[in-house]
Parts: sequence; C-alpha cells; structure tokens
Amino acid sequence: MRILVTGGAGYIGSHTCVELIHAGHQPIIIDNLSNSNIEAVRRVKALTKQSVPFYEADIRDHSMLERIFQTESIDAVIHFAGWKAVGESVQKPLEYYHNNITGTLVLCDVMRTYGVKNLIFSSSATVYGEPAFVPITEECPKGKISNPYGQTKAMLEQILTDLYVADPEWNIVLLRYFNPIGANESGQLGEDPRGIPNNLVPYIAKVAIGALPALGVFGNDYPTKDGTGVRDYIHVVDLAKGHVQALKKLEPNSGVNIYNLGTGNGYSVLEVLHAYEKACGKTLPYEIKPRRSGDIAICYCDASRAKEELGWKAEKTLEEMCIDSWRWQSMNPNGYVGA
Ligand code: NAD
Ligand code: UD1
Repeated sequence: MRILVTGGAGYIGSHTCVELIHAGHQPIIIDNLSNSNIEAVRRVKALTKQSVPFYEADIRDHSMLERIFQTESIDAVIHFAGWKAVGESVQKPLEYYHNNITGTLVLCDVMRTYGVKNLIFSSSATVYGEPAFVPITEECPKGKISNPYGQTKAMLEQILTDLYVADPEWNIVLLRYFNPIGANESGQLGEDPRGIPNNLVPYIAKVAIGALPALGVFGNDYPTKDGTGVRDYIHVVDLAKGHVQALKKLEPNSGVNIYNLGTGNGYSVLEVLHAYEKACGKTLPYEIKPRRSGDIAICYCDASRAKEELGWKAEKTLEEMCIDSWRWQSMNPNGYVGA
C-alpha cells in the first residue's frame, strides 16, 4: 500500500516508515520538522535503500495537503503529526489544541475530498487517566485527563468516531500506545528530544552519556513494588510493527477499532534504571524527588485484543530496549544535530 505518514520524521514515525518498507509498503512522509530533524528521513532512506517522498509541510496547510493528495496516489494515512509534551501543553494550550486538533481536522477534510478514508491514529494510554483497573483493556473507561495534550488525544478519538458515524465508508484504527522506548537496532534511528528530556528513558540516556548529572526519581512512596511509578515500556520497533499489522483493519466496513499497544508488563522507575545500567555498563546516579504532578502510580495494559485481531504481539524485552537505546545514544551523543 501507499501510505501517507504524517509526522514521519519523528521518533515513532521514522521507525514505522522502516517497518512499512520492510513489509513491502511505500511510505510518503509529511512533516513540518517542528520537533524533528531531516536527518531522520535521510537515515530511513539509507537503512532501507529505498526512496521515500518527503514533503516539508504543516498538516494545517490545506492547499499544500491538497497538492500532496493530487500528486501522490494514497491508500491510507498513518497520522503521527502532533505535539506531545505534557508540561508544555499546560503552558501553551491554544498552540496544542490548534496543532493537534486543527491539524487532524484539516487532514481528514482533505482525505475526504480525495476519497481516502483509511486512517490509523496515534492515541495514547493517557486517555485512561488514572485507570479504573489494571491491566488496562480497551473496555476500561476513559479517565480524568489533567493536561491539554491528553485532552487532544481523547477529543480526537471522539472526533474520528463521530466521523465514522456520519460516514461508514471510513475505516479507522485508534492505537493507544503505552510507553515507547528504545531505538532501531542499527543505532541509526532513535529518540532525539529537544532540550532536557521530560520522559524517563531519554533522561536516563542523557545521564549515561554524561550530559546530565543524575536522574530525579519522581516519588518513591507509590503503592508499587519499590515505591516508584510502574509503566508498560514497549520497544519502538515492536510498536512500529503494530502499525503495519493494523493496516489489516483498514478493510471496507471495518469501522472504528481500538487497540492497546504495550507489552502487558509493568516495570518500575528503578527497574528501568537498573536495566539501563546493565546495558551501558555504568552505575547511574539518581536522587529521589517529590512526585510529579499529574503522574499515576501504575499503568500497564492487557494487549490481548491486538494479538487476537491483528496477530501482533510485542516481542522485545526491557533489556533489549535499553541496549538499543544506549547504542543509539552512544553512537549519536548529540542526536541528529550536527550529523
Ligand atoms: P515526535 O515529536 O517525535 O513526532 C511527531 C512529528 O510530528 C514530529 O516530527 C513533528 O515535527 C511533526 N509535527 C508536529 N506537528 C506537525 C504539523 N502540524 N504538521 C506536520 N508535522 C508536524 O513524537 P513521537 O513520539 O514520534 O509521537 C508520534 C505520535 O504518537 C504523536 O501524535 C504523539 O502524541 C503520539 N504518542 C507518543 C507517545 C510517546 O511516548 N512518544 C505516546 C503516546 C502517543
Ligand atoms: C508521559 C505523559 C503521557 C505521555 C507519555 C509519552 C505525564 C504525566 N504523562 O507518560 O501523557 O503520553 O509521557 O510522551 O507526563 N520519571 C522519573 N523521572 C524522570 C522522568 C520520569 O522518575 O525524569 C518517572 C515518572 O514519574 C513515571 C515514569 O518515570 O513514573 C515514566 O515517565 P514518562 O517517561 O514521563 O512517561 P509517563 O509519565 O508514563
């Protein structure tokens, strides 16, 4: 299939482009590079030895999107483009709602005009808020969401569902990601956050490379095995393969399908830190800090629906996630910048 990948220069998008090509599909990328580097696109091409059309453009640019749909024949869209920094979204709600919501509205409008009604959307476990139960199944009710970023995901799930109700020709897959970490095993693609990382593994990676002095562990008084927060970390390559499998659900009359993409295992902050220490062969300093506002204690999924309906299961271990993250970080100490 020929697949428009919005946000394809980003962390998950670039890994997904590689897996799409391995599975025989043709990605076409649109990205405004607001949170990514063109070098990622070059590396996708180099790794796969395949040409990948790239449009540096904003998905809110209606006429540019029209030109892309006129130029390229497109069977489906995988929609990653959006901003994702929780704290920044609290500071800049208008910018986040505009980018994530308006961007998706414009994209869907142009898709409809050109009769492309197959969409895979990047949602998040954040829609469950403080989960009603764990392991979290897709039936778990959506929870109270404490930040605009998370709200955009919940709202977009609703908007896309409404779109299907109005026009059942749409086939929509909502993928709720748990915590993607790791990197392509070549060390050529990885997560390259701007500034000081907000998320756990990118932060640990910066401590391991010597760019930051110590990890701050946000709370050790949660009701968990060691008091630190528990999450369902998933290797980004497994996650990328989940998108390839989800293409199967874009057959006529498949409606709106929702899948959790995670491993089903929960690891604590300290377990992840220790796994990373093993991967990089260093002891990594940390200090216990107060809880981070908005954090929950435990979040991990039941991924059996994706296994049954998509034939997909995450394969890689926490050890492999840390080894691949460290390979990327040590081969690219400054990320893509200066490459
Ligand atoms: P990322 O920031 O690396 O990738 C997003 C890409 O979208 C970037 O390359 C950015 O430049 C681009 N972009 C943003 N706004 C755009 C616009 N208006 N027009 C064109 N391009 C635009 O993030 P990621 O980690 O790869 O996440 C991809 C998607 O998955 C996002 O929607 C994110 O919210 C969602 N998600 C991510 C995680 C995670 O932990 N990384 C978890 C759950 C959901
Ligand atoms: C966070 C976001 C979530 C988003 C996801 C992916 C919050 C509250 N949630 O999820 O909405 O979908 O990222 O972008 O920001 N931790 C530390 N020290 C650190 C960083 C993290 O101890 O420096 C801890 C956290 O308290 C948590 C765990 O590590 O227990 C994982 O944190 P993180 O990687 O930020 O992911 P989430 O909070 O699960």
